[in-house]
Amino acid sequence: MAVDLLLGLQWGDEGKGKIVDVLTSKYNIIARFQGGPNAGHTLVFNGKKHVLHTIPSGIFHEDTANVVGNGVVIDPVIFKKELDKLAEQGIDYKKSLLISRKAHIILPTHRLLDAASEASKGKAKIGSTLKGIGPTYMDKTGRNGIRVGDIELADWKDKYRSLADKHEDMIKFYNVEIQYDLKELEIEFFEAIETLKTLTFIDSEEYLHQAMKGGQTILAEGAQGSLLDIDFGTYPFVTSSNTTAAGACTGLGIAPNQIGEVFGIFKAYTTRVGSGPFPTELFDTNGEIMAKVGHEFGATTGRPRRCGWLDLVALRYACQINGVTQLIMMKGDVLSGFETLKVCTAYNYKGEEITHLPFNIEEENVTPIYTEFKGWNEDLTEMTEASQMPQALNDYIAFLEKELEIPITIVSVGPDRKQTIVRQ
Ligand code: GDP
Ligand code: IMO
Ligand code: MG
Repeated sequence: MAVDLLLGLQWGDEGKGKIVDVLTSKYNIIARFQGGPNAGHTLVFNGKKHVLHTIPSGIFHEDTANVVGNGVVIDPVIFKKELDKLAEQGIDYKKSLLISRKAHIILPTHRLLDAASEASKGKAKIGSTLKGIGPTYMDKTGRNGIRVGDIELADWKDKYRSLADKHEDMIKFYNVEIQYDLKELEIEFFEAIETLKTLTFIDSEEYLHQAMKGGQTILAEGAQGSLLDIDFGTYPFVTSSNTTAAGACTGLGIAPNQIGEVFGIFKAYTTRVGSGPFPTELFDTNGEIMAKVGHEFGATTGRPRRCGWLDLVALRYACQINGVTQLIMMKGDVLSGFETLKVCTAYNYKGEEITHLPFNIEEENVTPIYTEFKGWNEDLTEMTEASQMPQALNDYIAFLEKELEIPITIVSVGPDRKQTIVRQ
């Protein structure tokens, strides 16, 4: 069986958690392939909201295995908190949660380094979630990292000490004011490592390979979004992993010819949290309405998300890089009540009209060119079938499908599992 992928096509927070949860009943295994606790994936069902950071979004389904892949970075402290929350809700995660031995571990000093790096950048800061993501991936590619498999070995604490000491020297080098008590942080860290050790560690690439051979169905769950990809995103205002389809290959050990459907997920408008260029960003009441109606606050940091119109130049680029086969449109309900909607179809780039994403998309280089649409007033949140959708929404969707040449097969009209319309 092929592995299907679900990826965010914008700057994250598209609604990946919700849709993975909706699709989980069709899969035997859900596997996260990159990112770490910088992610915040929200699921809503039975009137309750759940936010997951590192644990795959299939965890609430009893018969599904949930794999944390080798491409993921794990903070044991945050992971333990997630586990505690699941336990409170009676979720028996011990049998369904499997951790790759090759996943890297975020140390307390990685978090401190993240804070020191951001503080040293001043106004040019990335707007990181400060979860230690960048420093951990730097240690991975620098070949200094500590992996889950290491904590099963006798000498791992020596390895830990020498890396943490080196990090402390690096923190001093930044020459910024960072208050911390490493001894305190280590107590919590080593406690959490013991909890992590109670879980099942696997050679995940072998596990997934055998599962595929045995006919099991697998959905790979992405974190962040394509425009935050380390290679293809709005560098340097990106995260430190490959959030795109190729990241699923390296983050799980899946060959490119084993990939089946690629579900690309996007909001009917655009949001971004943290710094960096955002051509269609709105600074007017339209942006305020999107933020308010869409409750646009980060699921991990609580920071307000910047809002703007849908950007088809960026979306087309993301579809291309990922080989998207099906699109999923989220939060259409948030756009109800706008008299006019705008969609960016091209950029004016240094005086020339272009339809591809150029190297520089900063305000001084790029002005969006918009197509306008008549909005809809109907409340979509109670709708369950495509036949109930207003004509103006159908026109909006038809336009996107024509421009992107990919079908929109699911339309989400609210945060709850049930608020999901499947289109034929
Ligand atoms: P993720 O990181 O991609 O999983 O997305 P987040 O959970 O960070 O952010 C998506 C937010 O939108 C969450 O608060 C969801 O509960 C909410 N949400 C998801 N789909 C919809 C939708 O169709 N309509 C509305 N109004 N909210 C949605
Ligand atoms: P999910 O999976 C939205 C953003 C941060 C910052 C940049 C780098 O919930 O969609 P990092 O902590 O990785 O060093 O931050 O990336 N960012 C996200 N934005 N959703 C996310 O994840 C994000 N993870 C990181 O705000 O701009
Ligand atoms: Mg999120």
